[in-house]
Amino acid sequence: MQEPLTHVLIQALWLILPAYLPNSAAAVIGGTRPIDGGREYRGTRLLGDGKTWRGLVAGISAGFLLAVLLNTLVPSVSALFPFTLPSFSIMAAFALPTGAMLGDLAASFIKRRMDRERGAPVPGLDQLDFIIGALVLGAILAPAWIDALGTPGIIVLLVVTPLVHLSANLIGYKIGVKDEPW
Ligand code: CTP
Ligand code: MG
Repeated sequence: MQEPLTHVLIQALWLILPAYLPNSAAAVIGGTRPIDGGREYRGTRLLGDGKTWRGLVAGISAGFLLAVLLNTLVPSVSALFPFTLPSFSIMAAFALPTGAMLGDLAASFIKRRMDRERGAPVPGLDQLDFIIGALVLGAILAPAWIDALGTPGIIVLLVVTPLVHLSANLIGYKIGVKDEPW
């Protein structure tokens, strides 16, 4: 029997939460020391001042801790649904936020090569960089996690994530932790 779409959606969102948090955590806790150390490539910054060590460490730690927290909540949250939510292995807890932050760094690298300044929007890339990073690193380091997600879950996430990301950034902008609403 095919799983109802609502089940696929709930499970997929649960499985991706540790990859959703790092961007916001980095925006709130982000520091000043840039990862690229100010270095340039052909006259343009490698990554730019928006990518800092403190943001990177904060993002990965926040996602990891969230995965650990979600594991403790599996029984109580599963009780709300007619299915059991999956828990996160240590590898998944590490791979998801790390992949998300690497995707974000890769996007900044691409944006600088396109001569877009820090904060300039690149629709599509901005909303999907971290999810693609998390899916790729998750698939490599945590095969059981990508199995639990399944192809329907992956498709659902690729559709839903840009909407979640845009809403989260709009909130971040309104409360003043983000400089731009995207
Ligand atoms: N941030 C950080 N370190 C990171 C990622 C993010 O300190 N590794 C912080 C920065 O203060 C950044 C903010 O979070 O400005 C928002 O992140 P993002 O929108 O990804 O960066 P932008 O400033 O838009 O820079 P870019 O154009 O390179 O995406
Ligand atoms: Mg940005």
